[in-house]
Amino acid sequence: MEVVIAGVPELARLAADAIERLLRARPDAVLGLATGSSPLAVYDELVRRHEQEGLSFAQARAFMLDEYVGLPVDHPERYRNVIETELAGRVDLAPGSVRGPDGLAADLPAACAAYEQAIVDAGGVDLQLLGIGTDGHVAFNEPGSSFASRTRIKTLTHQTRVDNARFFGGDVDAVPQHCLTQGLGTIMAARHLVLLASGRGKAEAVHQLVEGPVSALWPATILQHHPHVTVLVDEAAASRL
Ligand code: GLP
Repeated sequence: MEVVIAGVPELARLAADAIERLLRARPDAVLGLATGSSPLAVYDELVRRHEQEGLSFAQARAFMLDEYVGLPVDHPERYRNVIETELAGRVDLAPGSVRGPDGLAADLPAACAAYEQAIVDAGGVDLQLLGIGTDGHVAFNEPGSSFASRTRIKTLTHQTRVDNARFFGGDVDAVPQHCLTQGLGTIMAARHLVLLASGRGKAEAVHQLVEGPVSALWPATILQHHPHVTVLVDEAAASRL
């Protein structure tokens, strides 16, 4: 595990560098996209490189980490729409090249299984962007999640719903109670994991991620067993290291 401590703009550049290197070497690479606020500066930097330096996503494909269950198709916080707004709609990713778990499927377990198969059929994820929750969750794998888990339905913890209420006008009751999320086993199968965290609120989770014992109580600690992880954190998030 490589840990880099720097300011947020530099962290975004470093994450964008990793993605750019991959795309220049393998234009048809498979990217893993994350939502939340942490990757936003990375997406802005990728858009800048697309517009100013000719970085192309035209042959790339992408898989999203997770999705809320039940948000209407046009809801701005539906993760599919967030990714469209923040990245896909601003670069030359081909229509249909970004996939996410279908939180509106009539048969959610079948949708989860189909999603796992789609990732396998694409040859697996080359580079997976990740954030981390204050409780150490990655994607929506809350504390207690199995390290072997695959894409499935999860119930969001109260803490995560409180954390994410800011995206729903501050109303915790507006945050869905369930989600579909790639499992920890799914995420661990990606070839390179790039995790971003900033702010003091992430300090304990980052401490556990980097220095804690591997424990399902802090799901992100499983990343210690991955052969290629880059952890990009600012001073505040690194303050307990
Ligand atoms: C959500 C997402 C996670 C993300 C986390 C942290 O719960 N499902 O993928 O890592 O929030 O979000 P933020 O980066 O906004 O702190």
